[in-house]
Amino acid sequence: MAKDIKEIPGLEPKPIIGWVGNVGSVFSDPMVSLTNLREKFGDVFSISRGGNPHIFFSGKGKHQTLFVFGSKYNHQIMSDAETFYSGSIVGALLPDETATGRQAILRRLSIGLFGLNGNEHRRQRRLVMPAFHKQRLEFYYQDIVRITDEKIDQWKIGEQRDIWREMMDLTLQVVGQCLFGLNVLKEGRAFGETIQKWIKLAVSAETLLLQADIPGLPYHRFLNLSTQLDETVRGMIAENRASKIEKPDVLSLLMSSKNEDGTPAFTDDEVISHSAIFFIAGHETSSNALSWIFFLLSQHPQVMKKLRLEIDRVIGSAPPTIAQLKEMTYLDAIVKESLRLMPPAPLSARLVAKPVELGGYNLPIGTEVTFSAFHTHHDPAIYENPHQFIPERWETINPTAYEYIPFSTGIRSCIGMPLALMEIPIIIARVVQRFHLQLTPNANITPHIGLTMSPKYGLPMIIHAKDDKHTDEVKHVKGTIQSYIDLKPI
Ligand code: HEM
Repeated sequence: MAKDIKEIPGLEPKPIIGWVGNVGSVFSDPMVSLTNLREKFGDVFSISRGGNPHIFFSGKGKHQTLFVFGSKYNHQIMSDAETFYSGSIVGALLPDETATGRQAILRRLSIGLFGLNGNEHRRQRRLVMPAFHKQRLEFYYQDIVRITDEKIDQWKIGEQRDIWREMMDLTLQVVGQCLFGLNVLKEGRAFGETIQKWIKLAVSAETLLLQADIPGLPYHRFLNLSTQLDETVRGMIAENRASKIEKPDVLSLLMSSKNEDGTPAFTDDEVISHSAIFFIAGHETSSNALSWIFFLLSQHPQVMKKLRLEIDRVIGSAPPTIAQLKEMTYLDAIVKESLRLMPPAPLSARLVAKPVELGGYNLPIGTEVTFSAFHTHHDPAIYENPHQFIPERWETINPTAYEYIPFSTGIRSCIGMPLALMEIPIIIARVVQRFHLQLTPNANITPHIGLTMSPKYGLPMIIHAKDDKHTDEVKHVKGTIQSYIDLKPI
């Protein structure tokens, strides 16, 4: 007999302020706090025992937020999208359907595929899907090589650069080129910075707590940025339309998609919504993945050496071809292992849309369940020495679709995965072919969990020539990274 949701174990609400009192302590360093809470309470727990009136991530639910760990629950949640609904990327900040003016703009920008469920999600996902087919993206292969080379041509031997920022620029440019056929960085970094500021406000407690459009308030700034983003994306759409050249980019596909009766499949608002979400979801994730890979390589010279040998053997110094990339099995293992150890999207949330039993408890409609790629990937029951970076493990392991979830799985899995898995190895190969990136001594590497997991203070690295033999030495690292991963060799 399943128990009532109120019996789920968890942190006691604090006197007077109740559940709110637990939020700061859990979310100041969520991955570490959730690890400790799981040890204390087991695989299903709440951070406010007995219920709370608000939920954190998915929207306006009525019941509490639960944390649910383990591949068994990943399976239940990810294979039943009719019961476990997805919210928009701005969660509880999503204005309702009747919103007008600036809030209607925010609503449009925040939905994309993330904010759709049921038949409408299936319909739009099916229509968007061909845009990400491998064959279509392979068309952009040369562009990705060119964009990467243009970026790293600017690097000078001996200088220090924030590689996280460099990767942000690079992946934004890749999304702009592949999805819009446009050089989005010709206007400088302004567009990328607007997206960054927007994302920061979208996950900030201050924006959430006071949702009033009054000058000076974060919510007002958030709406200003939404309007700016909307205008920029509209401008790109207009530019793409005006160019009249038959292009295989994603935007052209969205604009030309037809329903069975020949009417346009997407309204203009839907085209803007998908386009904005592709920019938002498509560059921060990939740039964080790349940043964590360069960080891990800098801390594991023996892995770097093996990678160099593979690059020399398979591709030499010319740009890799698609066929050569497929031969690079060690590079592939490095990417897989980094996405396991430091998944750019470490937590996901769903809202219960039909009463359901999970973990021996009855969950009513409106309960939020949060599951964790990070904790799944660090589970010693699934991975031996889970906190260590060992690309070689991929020669022998074969986790299930619910044990390895950097891109999620099933109907809500990442639609941009083929693009990400094409651009990431190209960028790593091009950088490693020319340079050796060494972490600046005593750099503060502290993971920050916002919409994605990023290095909070960036990734300062010194750029050395590839053949500089004195650069293999690992430099000391500060910050909280060592609570996330074990940097000692086994
Ligand atoms: C390393 C890079 C990336 C990672 C780790 C990643 C991860 C993820 C994950 C975990 C989800 C599922 C979220 C959930 O379950 O709530 C997701 C969904 C999604 N991703 Fe990605 N992503 C990456 C790159 C991209 C790119 C390049 C694009 C597009 C240009 C993109 C677009 C999307 C979209 C639209 C969805 C929503 C799919 C749906 O709900 O049907 N992602 N991504």
